[in-house]
Amino acid sequence: MRLTGLALGLACLVHAPPLRADASLVAEGQLLYQDFCEICHGANAATGDSGDIRGLGVDTVRIALRGIEDMPPFDLTGVEIDAIVAYLSSLSGA
Ligand code: HEC
Repeated sequence: MRLTGLALGLACLVHAPPLRADASLVAEGQLLYQDFCEICHGANAATGDSGDIRGLGVDTVRIALRGIEDMPPFDLTGVEIDAIVAYLSSLSGA
């Protein structure tokens, strides 16, 4: 009994996070975007200084975050970058 309960509990732990992570990752990304990026890239990420940045891949975003031309570097964690990328791709409808 105990073992079965433990196994079920573990199974839930393993299976639940991805579902929740997706929505909350986008929500976190939106907050980060509003804090750090919106001022230059616009409320919808489509009309800012560098044009449309919606739906860009993580590699492109990582490179940009090191700083390019008029864009300053940002010191964000991998999770924060993933969140911003998830938010940008949610804007592009992907
Ligand atoms: C101070 C203004 C400013 C801020 C703040 C800013 N950016 Fe930028 N960003 C720019 C400019 C200007 C460019 C174009 C750089 C160039 O190529 O000359 C750019 C380019 C980019 C690109 C590359 C676009 C492409 O097509 O290659 C990405 C991705 C990007 N920014 C993401 C972000 C994210 C994510 C944030 C927030 C963490 C952010 N930027 C914050 C000004 C800014």
